[in-house]
Amino acid sequence: MSASLNQAPLPVWTAVDDYINAHYVQPDQILDSVLISAAEGGLPPHSVAPNQGKLLQILIQISKSARILEIGTLAGYSTIWMARAVEHLPGGRVISLEVNAHNAQIAKANIELASLSQVVTIMVAPALDSLDQLIQNKEQFDFIFIDADKPNNPNYLQRVLKLSHAGTVIVADNIVRDGKVTDAASTDPNVIGVRAFNDALSKISYVNSTQVQTVGSKGWDGFGLSLITADPPK
Ligand code: DHB
Ligand code: MG
Repeated sequence: MSASLNQAPLPVWTAVDDYINAHYVQPDQILDSVLISAAEGGLPPHSVAPNQGKLLQILIQISKSARILEIGTLAGYSTIWMARAVEHLPGGRVISLEVNAHNAQIAKANIELASLSQVVTIMVAPALDSLDQLIQNKEQFDFIFIDADKPNNPNYLQRVLKLSHAGTVIVADNIVRDGKVTDAASTDPNVIGVRAFNDALSKISYVNSTQVQTVGSKGWDGFGLSLITADPPK
């Protein structure tokens, strides 16, 4: 068993995801077409799984979040899941940051298809620049999903705190990376980024965090979950 954990995801994990989705995720032609557009556009298969998209949606509902920030749009798959959680709320909106103009073009078409253009804004620029602009504009968010280039995770964290208030929820994707996260000697910039993110996050007094490993159609990975417990210094 231990040897196989470092290899491709066991088909049974995908079968279990399919089983879960068959029970709890409604068939959805729009979301299906988002994934097709991503594949046809040559985007990497890094969209969250359907049951993970629904998890994001439920976390937004539990936390009564309305103002959502996403770092890393890709084709807009998770964007749509999150936007649907807030589209009918007062002040409900999603700002999603995407560096790649090709990705953003595909995502915008998908957001349009999902009739969410009034709710979602995609900022097309390096995310650090967009974050600095949001900070300058004194924007605040209730729920923040970090799912972009992992080497920048510590830099994203530093900025995201300035966009948070007491009660803000921060979710980070891909915090396990097939278990590579435990390798302190890793030279993989993604692993270094996730580890630096953890080292910084775990030292901040006003954030209450945990992480959970996951297996499923996306392989072996995990989500980080953080609650801001007091207004961060601005
Ligand atoms: C990668 C990035 C992701 O956001 C993801 O969900 C899976 C993999 C990657 O960069 O390899
Ligand atoms: Mg991801």
